[in-house]
Amino acid sequence: MDKNDRIYGLGETLGTLNKRGKKYRFYSTDDPMHTPEKEALYGTHPFMIVDGKNTFGLFIDFPAELIFDIGYENINTLKITVTGKNFDLYIFENENKNSIIEEFLKLTGTPFLPPKWAFGFQQCRWSYPDKESVNNIADNFRKREIPCDAIYLDIDYMENYKVFTVDNNKFPDFPQFARDIMKRGFKLVPIIDPGVKIEDGYNVCDEGVKNGYFCKDKDGKDYVTAVWPGLTYFPDFLNSTVRNWWGNLYKDFNDIGIRAFWNDMNEPAIFYTPDSLKEVSDILKQNSGNTDLGIEAFTAKDKMLTMANNRNDYKSFYQKDESGNIINHDDVHNLYGFNMARGTAEGLMNLDPEKRYFLLSRSSYIGQQRFSYIWMGDNFSWWDHMQVHFRMLQSLNMCGFFYTGPDIGGFGGNSSPELVIRWMQLGAFTPLYRNHSAIGTRNQEPWVYDEESNDILKNIIRLRYAFMPYAYSEFKKSTENLSPFIKPLGFVFETDRAKDAEDQYMYGDSLMVAPVYTPNARGRYVHLPEVKWLKWTASKFEDRNMTVYDSGDYFIDANLNEIPLFIKENSLIVLENPKQYTGEKETENLYITGLVTEESEFTFYDDDGESTGYKNGEYYKINIKISKTETEFDVNVEIDDTEEYPCTIKNIFFEIYDETGKKYTMETKID
Ligand code: GLC
Repeated sequence: MDKNDRIYGLGETLGTLNKRGKKYRFYSTDDPMHTPEKEALYGTHPFMIVDGKNTFGLFIDFPAELIFDIGYENINTLKITVTGKNFDLYIFENENKNSIIEEFLKLTGTPFLPPKWAFGFQQCRWSYPDKESVNNIADNFRKREIPCDAIYLDIDYMENYKVFTVDNNKFPDFPQFARDIMKRGFKLVPIIDPGVKIEDGYNVCDEGVKNGYFCKDKDGKDYVTAVWPGLTYFPDFLNSTVRNWWGNLYKDFNDIGIRAFWNDMNEPAIFYTPDSLKEVSDILKQNSGNTDLGIEAFTAKDKMLTMANNRNDYKSFYQKDESGNIINHDDVHNLYGFNMARGTAEGLMNLDPEKRYFLLSRSSYIGQQRFSYIWMGDNFSWWDHMQVHFRMLQSLNMCGFFYTGPDIGGFGGNSSPELVIRWMQLGAFTPLYRNHSAIGTRNQEPWVYDEESNDILKNIIRLRYAFMPYAYSEFKKSTENLSPFIKPLGFVFETDRAKDAEDQYMYGDSLMVAPVYTPNARGRYVHLPEVKWLKWTASKFEDRNMTVYDSGDYFIDANLNEIPLFIKENSLIVLENPKQYTGEKETENLYITGLVTEESEFTFYDDDGESTGYKNGEYYKINIKISKTETEFDVNVEIDDTEEYPCTIKNIFFEIYDETGKKYTMETKID
């Protein structure tokens, strides 16, 4: 590497946005302890961009272990180790980083458009284990008028953690319960894990065994591991027959209208195997009665710790490809989650081709953006993990995962109200806006702290909903243009200073977000590259006081209830009155704002938000153009709709600033 080269990409990895100075390993792993030195996480995204003396992109399509040493062993050496021969290497020769991404996405596939509600707020916890607790969460949101679109069901909704079952004691008449919750504007999002409990008479296990759908051991017997339900089998998703079978298991959920799921533990996570458990218990047995263990205690502890997700176990089972070839799992390890999500997605599309589905996966591989979204796995309620959040968000977007996000507020550990508030502000400008926390930790729902925190959080979530027309339009555009929805500043402005500002990013093409991510802060330094910016220290949709800034570096005040946002010169944002949930009512009024010194344009996009009809032209657009004249502004609004799919907007209100900071208000009625 040249001294000044910057290395971008590598998706779901820890470390800085410029990946120099660290080693990264792609071997999809369930590791919930995201400390800085960790090399591997849940996903495999070996696409990177070298930006510098010789700019180019590189992608290695290889489903087994890969190691990227980027100036870790030797400061200026980039060394990539591919642990096998069966790989494809792609080099993208292009001086322009955004064009490299476009070419890469032409090769690996277009991110798909989620249902519109996916841009609302989503509440999760491990767990809301029964009907009463889910209803209680729903009641609180509606009673307190805090917008929310989804409530998640974690593993406890199942009967003994058996996938595709529901515990009837905890959820009596589940279909009716689900319909009632959905009628109130909440999507229910059940978790589905790959491990199938070994139990006679359990249909998923019986069908899998009978048809030979599970991964095999070296003797051709169904391979036994253990996850939440105890002893389990893993479906062999490499095979399309197995994927079709699996996809169809979603039918009962689909029939009651549930079209949203999260696929977890699909690295696949292994708690132990009968063999590895035996080794540990043998050590303990040999020493039973001996309280003076010494080094044996150390060995036993080590064995315990390495029992889960052990590489030897991944090497001990086999999968079968389409042509019937037997393949050691280790050689295709990084594709397990990809193929599970693919089976799920294809199933959901078959079950109801007219309706969009929503699918999060924990494990992923390049190309998965075509059929699932991902979340970033088990982070902690640590301030440091807010930095992981916004860096990974930018890196994952480069790799095609436009719609993603972490567990807001942190999954493990206990959170303080201040941490949750700052994190919820950052999350409000992240495509996946899901608050999630682990069992045994402090609750993180917006109302669990004090009244002040409740009010701040309510206003942040309402602000998120005000941005709905902007986020949805810009996201649609990003999928059409194959251009990440989230971009680092250094992908828009070519200065060193902009490239180094890793803690600010573009959310769509008009808005720059500069989150506060340190405790007890009352503001932060912000870099404003090259053009003028319209600053909004935003706390509430209704309070829209904006100030014009020249390019430069500034300390921007931001009280606990405020997040610094900046609208780029000659760009526009589009807002609406926040709803309680996305489908609550038709949008009639749009609010457009920006700093216009010459000319700015915005295309508002809308469709029914739920069907796949947009693929056949069932949508409309409004093209808005604002030009600065000598004394004021020319506003041009063009409706691009059809009789079958007419525009529903009635009024557009403009709040436009000139470079002196003077605000002009205008209004357009649409007949
Ligand atoms: C895993 C998931 C987490 C989930 C938990 C229980 O740790 O990453 O999101 O809550 O399992 O299902």
